[in-house]
Amino acid sequence: MKSCVGIIGLGSMGASLARNLARHGYRVSVYNRTFEKAEEFVKEFPDDGFVLCETLEDLASSLPSPRVIMSVITAGEPTKAALRDLSKFLAPGDLVVDCANSFYKDSMELGKEMEEKGILFADCGVSGGKMGALLGPSMMFGGSEKAWELCGGAILAACAKAKGGEPCAARLGPVGSGHFVKMVHNGIEYAIMGAIDEIYDIFRREGFSAQDCARIFKKWDEGALHGYLTEITAKVLEHRDPKTGKAFVDQLKDEVRMNGTGTWTVLSALELGSCAPSVGEAVFERIFSSEPALRRGFAPSPAPEVSVDSSEAMQALYLSSAIIYAQGFDVLRAASGRYGWDLDFAEIARIWEEGCIIRSDFLPKICEAFKKDPALPSLLSSPVFEKIEEENLQALRRVVSKAVLGGVACFVLESSLSYFDDFSRPLPVNLLAAQRDYFGAHGYERADEPGFFHTEWEEDGREVKRQ
Ligand code: 6PG
Repeated sequence: MKSCVGIIGLGSMGASLARNLARHGYRVSVYNRTFEKAEEFVKEFPDDGFVLCETLEDLASSLPSPRVIMSVITAGEPTKAALRDLSKFLAPGDLVVDCANSFYKDSMELGKEMEEKGILFADCGVSGGKMGALLGPSMMFGGSEKAWELCGGAILAACAKAKGGEPCAARLGPVGSGHFVKMVHNGIEYAIMGAIDEIYDIFRREGFSAQDCARIFKKWDEGALHGYLTEITAKVLEHRDPKTGKAFVDQLKDEVRMNGTGTWTVLSALELGSCAPSVGEAVFERIFSSEPALRRGFAPSPAPEVSVDSSEAMQALYLSSAIIYAQGFDVLRAASGRYGWDLDFAEIARIWEEGCIIRSDFLPKICEAFKKDPALPSLLSSPVFEKIEEENLQALRRVVSKAVLGGVACFVLESSLSYFDDFSRPLPVNLLAAQRDYFGAHGYERADEPGFFHTEWEEDGREVKRQ
């Protein structure tokens, strides 16, 4: 048996992570708020050598010093309360790793609190769902080098391995960076899922069945769009409802829930002054879905015909996905600058190659692009992405146009196209600058002369130089 690790929280993720660590030879002490659940868990896996702990104090005293405890409980208040409680039984030099989907600012706040007590704190984003946590998730660690020294071995053992065997986990920066990167991962996840759903919507409007769509997504997964989200889309679409024998998706309401990481990505992008419209649209689309009473207040308008070629749809989804990854990395770049994290984007792409939900054939390309040029202003300006843009732009334009003319809403596809278009041409905000100077005397910059100016619009139209 290797050194001991404690796990707090035996929900699906915590239980899977505990079993994963045990499988890698770690003796794991387990604690759950409801003790019966912990007892059942330990009974269910008698060969894994779990140490059952009834209280947080038991958990602390079951571990050798310095203690390493990973917390996998609901983010927000439950995590904060449990870790504050736990800290009463810890000693300086012990390490607590929050592996929940916590908001990065909460992690920074908790980190400070723990630091004041001499306790090490780290935030670790864990992606891959229940199966990922069991078989190997992608793990995004934020914490000091000392914290990484204490638990890096366990994380590197438990995480997913890339095709060449490299672990899909890394220390990305100080406290906060792990959960920030995981949050953006989820923002990308929301937007790619939104784009997939819109393509699916177009197909259904064309008259394709869920099974037809499943076949198409399956084929795409064997090609350039190979990735976990494409793969599960095909599987979900081909699934038959055991109750009715009909297509499973057709038995579900057009309403969806969310845990909030996508919303945080958008709020953070806004706060950092970074542009991630496709993530925003994906979040708005989910919010809209949860307002059925509002939506059903309108009688459906007659639906015009939509006809999109499936290879064209594949190209549209391909380019839209590339643009979504670019937006996500742009948010990461903004945070890295703001917080001085010095994030290694190639390394982030590398640890997303396996284990996580957004793993796809894009990730090695993204990794390569940032390795060649770590200061790349946007993925969209890398040669690999330029080629993708060149080959697929017309298809994305055609699909978006046909969807719009056919009355199929495509928030995410459309916003990714607009984001791309804004990259490659001057923006019309020269007019905007003049408008706001007109009513608010806010000033503007000229293209032909340095300085800051204002026009006396309602007087003699004279231009005044302010600086
Ligand atoms: C992952 C997932 C995981 C979870 C999301 C779902 O990376 O393993 O992203 O974290 O499934 O929180 O998010 P929503 O509930 O908001 O859709």
